[in-house]
Amino acid sequence: MTHSHHHAAGPRAHEPAPGRLHVHDDADTAAGGDDLLDLDGEVLAAHWGVALDRATAAAAEGLGAVGRSPARVVDLGAGTGTGAVGLARRLPEAEVVAVDVSEHSLTRVALKAHAAGVGNRVRTLVADLDAGWPDLAPIDLTWASMSLHHLADPVRSLAELRRLTSAGGLLAVSEFDEPLRFLPDDLGAGRPGFETRALDVLSAVHAEALPNIGASWAAMLAEAGWTVVDEHDVVIDERAPDHPLAGRYARAWFDRLEDGLSGRLDAEDQRTLGALLDDDGPQGLQHRSDLHLHGIRSLTLARA
Ligand SMILES: C[S@@+](CC[C@H](N)C(=O)[O-])C[C@H]1O[C@@H](n2cnc3c(N)ncnc32)[C@H](O)[C@@H]1O
Repeated sequence: MTHSHHHAAGPRAHEPAPGRLHVHDDADTAAGGDDLLDLDGEVLAAHWGVALDRATAAAAEGLGAVGRSPARVVDLGAGTGTGAVGLARRLPEAEVVAVDVSEHSLTRVALKAHAAGVGNRVRTLVADLDAGWPDLAPIDLTWASMSLHHLADPVRSLAELRRLTSAGGLLAVSEFDEPLRFLPDDLGAGRPGFETRALDVLSAVHAEALPNIGASWAAMLAEAGWTVVDEHDVVIDERAPDHPLAGRYARAWFDRLEDGLSGRLDAEDQRTLGALLDDDGPQGLQHRSDLHLHGIRSLTLARA
């Protein structure tokens, strides 16, 4: 079941997917990362639905006060378009601009939007936001899901975005509070605690490569001149059998982790990872019946 509750204070864990460490730099890497994003969108559709409902309702409410509805909406770091398509579906009068530095991912956005019947209202725009924002003013709503922590200077980018945003316009930020976990502590092979050790290794890798993962986004938004109006944690806590694609998602996830973990796990954990990724073996992620999905993502809403 996916549900949300008010934001709880506490230490923030780090994002576990090394696929998100870098802007993709070759076609295979790009395709693997994009598959993972597509699976995330499908397996966690209920979670994203709740978050998109909240963001679009808050945007419509804010602009309704001045007699308008959201006209231009931006998906910042759109990836493969889970957000862009969801926004276009919920806001039938809006134009959605999917902005990303990856042309490869944006190709998928266009295909997905077309398949969803919203292709005429979803525009893709290749841009490196670290080099400055394209002139998209006036923006009524920006959706930034799992993308802000990739930016070199999020406060600077968020301040620029605020200048492009209409009076009363909204920004919705979804980020990681706790990384997703899939595995029981005892896998029935190898010693217990594999996933915890793997996540510890990754959070050390991420601390160096993506220092803004787990940042206080409300504080950064305030520093960039935004007024934070709502902060929620969305708790993901589901048993995998409810999700036919959960095994594939877990497989894609650990496949992406492999690069970051490689050489940093001890020999036994390295063997465990190999067994999890072996689709023909008894430990293979695609066929396990003991998977679950657990993690926390934050949703922060702010007005210009
Ligand atoms: C983890 S993905 C999230 C994708 C999507 N928002 C989602 O929720 O599925 C992060 C995205 O940010 C994009 N990105 C990273 N750095 C960027 C930059 N400097 N300018 C524009 N996009 C960037 C990446 O290409 C990638 O598609």
